[in-house]
Formats: sequence, structure tokens, C-alpha cells
Amino acid sequence: MTPVGPTGRVPVSDPLPSDLAELVGLDRLCFGERAWPARAWWEVLHEPGWQPRVIRTRQVIIGATVLLPAPSVASLASIAVHPAWRQRGLGWALLDDAIRLAGQAGARWLALNVDQGQTVALRMYRKRGFGASLRYVEDGIPRLEMLRRLRRGTLPCYDVRRHG
Ligand SMILES: CC(C)(COP(=O)(O)OP(=O)(O)OC[C@H]1O[C@@H](n2cnc3c(N)ncnc32)[C@H](O)[C@@H]1OP(=O)(O)O)[C@@H](O)C(=O)NCCC(=O)NCCS
Repeated sequence: MTPVGPTGRVPVSDPLPSDLAELVGLDRLCFGERAWPARAWWEVLHEPGWQPRVIRTRQVIIGATVLLPAPSVASLASIAVHPAWRQRGLGWALLDDAIRLAGQAGARWLALNVDQGQTVALRMYRKRGFGASLRYVEDGIPRLEMLRRLRRGTLPCYDVRRHG
């Protein structure tokens, strides 16, 4: 069963500093060798600027995002759902929560980066209105930067749409 809150929605909440080990574990499970080191997750939990969010079931974290809110272009730095809990709408719950928080922070755009081979994530982003703004290669892996408009306004100053 998918965890649901009183309103029928999947509850997304702020993590606690004590969630560090769980977040590191989920990240390793979802991203393998490309997972962030524990130090990076510690910074996400303790340093200002980062906005991590989690979905729990029975106190266990089964999904997480990391947002970098900003007035012009917010960045979704990470999104992951535990493999055993995928295809139940948790990815949508996390992505929609990030879009809402980025909008609340005053951002006009939400940016993210994704491997071109991550077809599941790519499909999800395209369905929510993200478009490719930059194609590049990192560590030999073809990647995309994607942008979604959150409110009316001009394109970000690093206008790269013509490369998409
Ligand atoms: C991407 C990810 C977060 C999606 O989580 P999820 O909980 O399975 O997503 P949802 O069930 O909410 O589905 C969201 C959409 O993703 C797409 N999707 C999910 N699973 C899919 C699959 N197996 N095949 C094709 N598309 C799929 C669909 O478009 C789906 O929308 P729809 O079924 O309502 O039309 C999850 O697969 C994951 O953690 N992957 C590993 C980490 C990762 O790649 N993160 C993104 C890095 S940029």
C-alpha cells in the first residue's frame, strides 16, 4: 500500500538531522556509485540553502528530494524513491512537492539534470512540463539539463534553450 495522509495525499515532510544514515542508505540504493558521500548529505541536513524532503512509511524513509530554492532558478538536486516502492505515485508526490516549494520560494524556473539514459525519470519530467535546455557529457555520460517554467517571466540569464 502507498502511504497516504489524512487528505488522501502522499505525505511529504522535512527530514530530521537524525535521518542522515537513512538518507545516505537510500541514495546508495538508488544511485549506486554515483550516490552523494555522507558528508554531502550532512550538509544538506545542516547547512542553510538546502531544502530536503522525505516520504516515510512506518517511520522508514522510502523517498527523498533535495531542492535548492532560489528567486530566479531553483534546482532539484536529487529525487529518489526506494526500488520496492516505485510505480505507486511517490515520484509524482515528491516532484509536485518540489515544484510547489520552488514556486513558494519565488522561483520562476525549476532546473534539474538527468542522464539521457534515465528514461523513467525523463518521462516523468517531460510529463510535468520540463523541457531540455542543455545537452552535455559528464564523465562520459550524456546528460540533459531540463527546465520547467513556474511563473511568467523571461528565460534565465544563461539562456541555452537554443541548444535543446
Ligand atoms: C524516477 C523515480 C523517482 C520515479 O519514482 P516512482 O515513485 O516510481 O514514480 P511514480 O510512480 O510517481 O511515476 C511517475 C511517472 O514516472 C514514469 N514511470 C515510473 N515508472 C516507470 C516505468 N517503470 N517505466 C516507464 N515510466 C515509468 C511514468 O511516466 C510515471 O507516470 P504515470 O505512470 O503516472 O504516467 C524512481 O524511478 C527512482 O527513484 N529512480 C532512481 C533514481 C533516479 O533516477 N532519479 C532521477 C535522477 S534525475
